[in-house]
Amino acid sequence: MNTVFITGASGTLGRYFAEQFAAHGWNLVLHGFRAIEALQEYSQQLEHRYRVAVQCVAADLTVESELKAMVETVRQSSSQPTVLINNAAEFPSAQPLLRLSLEAWDRLWKLNLTAAWQMVQHFVHSLAPQGGHIVNIASLGAIEIWRQRGIYNLTKQALLRLTQILAVELAPHYVVNAIAPGVIGDPRAAGIAIDPKQIPMQRFGTPDDVWNAVYFFSTCSSYITGQFLVVDGGFHFAKGCVI
Ligand SMILES: NC(=O)c1ccc[n+]([C@@H]2O[C@H](COP(=O)([O-])OP(=O)(O)OC[C@H]3O[C@@H](n4cnc5c(N)ncnc54)[C@H](OP(=O)(O)O)[C@@H]3O)[C@@H](O)[C@H]2O)c1
Repeated sequence: MNTVFITGASGTLGRYFAEQFAAHGWNLVLHGFRAIEALQEYSQQLEHRYRVAVQCVAADLTVESELKAMVETVRQSSSQPTVLINNAAEFPSAQPLLRLSLEAWDRLWKLNLTAAWQMVQHFVHSLAPQGGHIVNIASLGAIEIWRQRGIYNLTKQALLRLTQILAVELAPHYVVNAIAPGVIGDPRAAGIAIDPKQIPMQRFGTPDDVWNAVYFFSTCSSYITGQFLVVDGGFHFAKGCVI
């Protein structure tokens, strides 16, 4: 049976990926941070519903000692993940770079980039030394500039570059790819004024839209590496249409 390690599995997309992997018969290692109790309850439901093994682990991924201890817990368990989904991240509140505090700058870099890189180091050195698939969840914000979210744009663009560099460094035993989701769910609830009519597909994306790309990159041929897939209903290119 395959096992996948998903960071940020207590969040919206991570929970969805967890259930879909379980529905496909995969065992799970699920990471959460503040919502770990809810994640543990959810894990039990998944175990019963899909008859798979689920291990739950908690860590603040911006704290190296917590990240290391979490990996050690997994290493000492019977879980043997061969797929890593670097999904945990923070979408910051609106703030121009000139106003951003050093504390917020450092936290975003640590979570959105450094933690993904460290997870890959541990995955390769101790969790999956024989090889595997790594999927980094970036964002459309990696290739665009969003007003007042510059730090998010920077960290997600760096995650794409990290994906490409690791794909080269870790070949031929590891496959490393990234996904750049566009607007998933209704952003208007968070005060972001995007009308679905601005998107060529005329709707906001769903977790299932992203899941399709996640599963593809988790199981794809080793000849597909260092790539990123934009899942945005055509939104990015539509912005460039002037006539
Ligand atoms: N939703 C979208 O529209 C969208 C679009 C493009 C890209 N993405 C990307 O997709 C991924 C998932 O997004 P989402 O919408 O599901 O996000 P979400 O619901 O906000 O979930 C974020 C996850 O990250 C974890 N996390 C936050 N701070 C952490 C920390 N310091 N240490 C460890 N874990 C931490 C959270 O854990 P706790 O809740 O347990 O604290 C949670 O599991 C992210 O990489 C995001 O950038 C999302």
